[in-house]
Amino acid sequence: MNFAIDHLGIAVKSLAAAKAIYETLGLSVSPEETVEHEQVRLVMVPVGESRLELLEATSENSTIARFIAKRGEGLHHVCIKVPDLCAAIERLKKNGVRLVSEEIKTGAGGHQYVFVHPSSTGGVLLELVQA
Ligand code: CO
Repeated sequence: MNFAIDHLGIAVKSLAAAKAIYETLGLSVSPEETVEHEQVRLVMVPVGESRLELLEATSENSTIARFIAKRGEGLHHVCIKVPDLCAAIERLKKNGVRLVSEEIKTGAGGHQYVFVHPSSTGGVLLELVQA
């Protein structure tokens, strides 16, 4: 398994409204899933070998709610699939890269992930997931 763009995360005010355009295009949209610890509800839209992740806040304290309040709807993060997540984290830490949290978390579909802070990536919130 090589590196790949796993998905692009997009912060939206309304999942129903946001997913409609993709359905209109003829893409199929996954059932809604809630990730309690991130306070988000999401759907995945497979596009070729990658996916769009549409994210709606389930509470005002959600990072997605705060992102939208500050910057409006739009691209929230880029997610890269890595062959070995633990090794990737070790390598980044050794090189002084700032992670949002060093703890590996479990997200939608049960995948393991961490976020790399935008201050280390040229302004883009970078999610890394285990392949
Ligand atoms: Co994501």
